[in-house]
Amino acid sequence: MLPSTLALLQCPACGAGALASSEGLLRCGRGHAFPVVDGIPRLVDPPDLVYRFEDASTYDALMDFVARLLRADEAAARRRAIASLGLGPGARVLEIGCGPGNNFSYLFEALGETGELFAGDVSPTMIEAARTRPVADPDRRHLFLLNGMRLPFVDRAFDAVLQIGTLNRFPDIRAALAEMVRVTRPGGRIVVSDEGVAPWLEGTEYGALLRKFGGFFDGTAPLDALPPEAQDVCVRWDFGQAFYAIEFRVGEPPAADLDVPLPGRSVTVREVLEKGSSAS
Ligand SMILES: C[S@@+](CC[C@H](N)C(=O)[O-])C[C@H]1O[C@@H](n2cnc3c(N)ncnc32)[C@H](O)[C@@H]1O
Ligand SMILES: [Zn+2]
Repeated sequence: MLPSTLALLQCPACGAGALASSEGLLRCGRGHAFPVVDGIPRLVDPPDLVYRFEDASTYDALMDFVARLLRADEAAARRRAIASLGLGPGARVLEIGCGPGNNFSYLFEALGETGELFAGDVSPTMIEAARTRPVADPDRRHLFLLNGMRLPFVDRAFDAVLQIGTLNRFPDIRAALAEMVRVTRPGGRIVVSDEGVAPWLEGTEYGALLRKFGGFFDGTAPLDALPPEAQDVCVRWDFGQAFYAIEFRVGEPPAADLDVPLPGRSVTVREVLEKGSSAS
């Protein structure tokens, strides 16, 4: 592993940085050790967490079926989401829950000649399928077995973070989004997209049809789970209006200026809050 890649890693179990690489293991200073198998670090915490909902060998056919059912243009929808990441030359992007790598070619299109793609999934079969998917430059594609709830990366490691088709199934969506923000640099961008029929289609024949798919399309855009750092938030529905896409920039949480004087009075908001209505 390149020293520049190693420098971005931290222990998912305890958060200690500076993992050391030796004898096929990555170790943190507090004794946690993670194997590297076929060149892919298995930085999953808890170590026995394995998610096997999707079958990598049939995933592309499933996506094709869903696109045809919804009369949606899969490539165009993926490109729209990725365009919103604002990737420029030399950017470093992380995809969480990358599956068998369906976004990789579009991400490389956006990264151009110099950017780097980091991608991870909790499923060993998915990450193995991702490893064999041809990409423009395998040296600039770094794969990890990881849990999106405990990302094995240092704070502010990435210019952008992408997650498509995964968020609804996370056990704690608010914590998952906070973890994405943690690994994104200030000013960087985050895009999350998952199943959820546009609210205005509730009660239509189309909406009712999708409801019959065993809860698959029942998600809603989890705007109330966004972190305080979310700025310029946009939400849209794509892919047959059956997937929400939330796109935002990471910034400072808003903070009110309590030292502003009240109009027509020689007292500030802070003084009124501290002294109550007796403040003159
Ligand atoms: C529907 S697939 C999406 C694949 C791909 N992102 C796409 O756009 O087609 C969802 C993926 O999320 C992965 N996943 C589920 N829970 C995860 C977690 N906690 N951490 C990382 N990946 C996870 C699954 O293994 C699966 O590969
Ligand atoms: Zn550790």
